[in-house]
This record gives sequence, C-alpha cells and structure tokens, in this order.
Amino acid sequence: ALAIWHQLTKSEIPELAKASVLMRDRSRVEETIQAMQRAGPDALQVISDFDMTLSRFAHNGKRCPTTHNILDNDLLINDACKKMIRELLNTYYPIEIDATRTVEEKLPHMVEWWTSVHELLIQQKIRRDLLAQAVKQSSAMLREGYKVFFDRLQEQQVPLLIFSAGLGDILEEVIRQNHVFHPNVHVISNYMDFDQSGVLRAFKGQLIHTFNKRECALLHAAHFRELKERPNVLLLGDSLGDLTMADGVAHTQHALTIGFLNDQVEERKESYVNSYDIVLVKDETMDIPNAILNYIT
Ligand code: C5P
Ligand code: MG
Repeated sequence: ALAIWHQLTKSEIPELAKASVLMRDRSRVEETIQAMQRAGPDALQVISDFDMTLSRFAHNGKRCPTTHNILDNDLLINDACKKMIRELLNTYYPIEIDATRTVEEKLPHMVEWWTSVHELLIQQKIRRDLLAQAVKQSSAMLREGYKVFFDRLQEQQVPLLIFSAGLGDILEEVIRQNHVFHPNVHVISNYMDFDQSGVLRAFKGQLIHTFNKRECALLHAAHFRELKERPNVLLLGDSLGDLTMADGVAHTQHALTIGFLNDQVEERKESYVNSYDIVLVKDETMDIPNAILNYIT
C-alpha cells in the first residue's frame, strides 16, 4: 500500500515533492486527493481567503498591499489619516501573526484594529467613483498562476467562495481588473455603504476580522445551504483563522486545507504544519492548488 500512497507525489502531482511543500501526513493528503478525484468536480467547492492567499504577499522583495492597504492613496485619504492607519498596522499586525498568543488573546485587538481603521476611513469621506483608480494605481497583484486557477474553476463550474476580512469593494475591483470575476465566484467580505452621492458613510453587516470567520460562516448559512450537494472542500488560507471558513458546510465528506506561510516562517512553521494539511512556505504561486485541481477536476 505504501507504494500506492506515494505514487501521486512521484508521478501524477510531482509538484507535491517540492521542498517548499510541508505535510504532517502525506499519505492522508494523497488519499484525500484521490477520494476527491473519484468524486469529481460536481462534488467540489473551493473556499479561499483573499489577502495574502489569492493576492501576493511580496513581489521582487517588496510587500504587496492588502485590500485595506490599497486605500493608502492620496486620491482617497489625507496624510494625517495615512499616518494613523500605518501606525495601527505597525501596532496590530504583529499581534495578528504572533505565534506566542492565543486566538482568544488576539480577538479584542483585532476588533479594535478593524473598528479604528473603518472609523478613520468613514471620516475621510471616501468616494466610490475613485476606488477603481486607486486599485489601478496600487501594486496589488494576484499570485502567479491565478488565471489558470480562476479559469479552470469556472470551466469546471466549481463554485469559488472568496471569504475575506479585507474590503469587499476593493477585492471585487482587483479580480475584475484581472479579468477573473467569473460567475462562479462569490464573495463574503466587509462591504462599504455609500450615501446617495457616493460617499462612504458606514460598513455593512457584521464586521469580519481574521479570527471570527467561523461566526461569519454560520451567519451566511444560506450560501452554504445552496451548495450542500458539494461535500468536498478545498480550502486555501494564510492565517490560522482561515481554517474555520468551511464551518458553514454542513456535511463535509473530504476536506483538504492548504496554508500559505508567508511571514514569520520559523516561528509559525510548527503550528501551520499541525493545522493545515499542506503548508506552502514562501511560495508566491498558485502552482500547488493548480496541480491538485488539475488532477481532481
Ligand atoms: O482577506 P483576508 O481575510 O486575508 O484580509 C485580512 C487581512 O488584511 C489581514 O490578514 C490583515 O493583516 C490585513 N489588514 C490590513 N489592514 C487593516 C486590517 C487588516 O492590512 N486595517
Ligand atoms: Mg489573508
């Protein structure tokens, strides 16, 4: 049986043998991929985080912006506000990724971070008609191979849920400008609420931050109900909080989780390998998800 287990890595999906691919239990991963392949694309749904998962963490050694950071543009906010948002990032991002703190300890800080930034954005009276231009001027980039990923899911009619604690309006604009906002793509995120003149006045619905995706998944139960005949889930994320994005799927048969480990690699490697089925270390491409999708669909 051993020989069969490792056949996938050797022949069908050689990408899984790369040094940047870590797995706690390679046999289980291979069995899951094989079971998903037998069930086919009709049984599959993909649930993915956006910032630093579908979008790049870095390019040529420079950090790429999150959807929030795309707003760091003179078109939208003044210098004083930029400075405050950067200070908040410098305070709270280290807490978000701190391997020594529990999720419970991080929670109140995340709520504080998101709430403060959203209040600042509302004060800036951001105009809806300038968002597309801000996205164009930004250095936001999707991971290499993103087009193959999105196009294949669309061709196979596999639903893709993008579940993001970032900004939905910006996220949609990024995928639209990259020509991959296909009809099979659904987004759960923080959306801006504009007044009649197109000026930001609030955020809609329940705030989504890195560590409450489980509650938000349950709130959006209707979305998952529509997909109940798709019991196999491929989940992509870059934060440990992303692992709860599939908690709205009622009867999961096979789930495979892929985690991008972008930052603080040594500090976080162990917890990522213990939590995600496949961990991709400093991999700015969609090569592994694409290779797996190519095999199972
Ligand atoms: O799409 P995703 O759920 O990854 O979006 C959340 C990410 O956005 C977080 O990982 C966080 O680091 C980042 N963020 C940010 N600025 C904020 C709030 C969150 O860059 N004000
Ligand atoms: Mg992310």
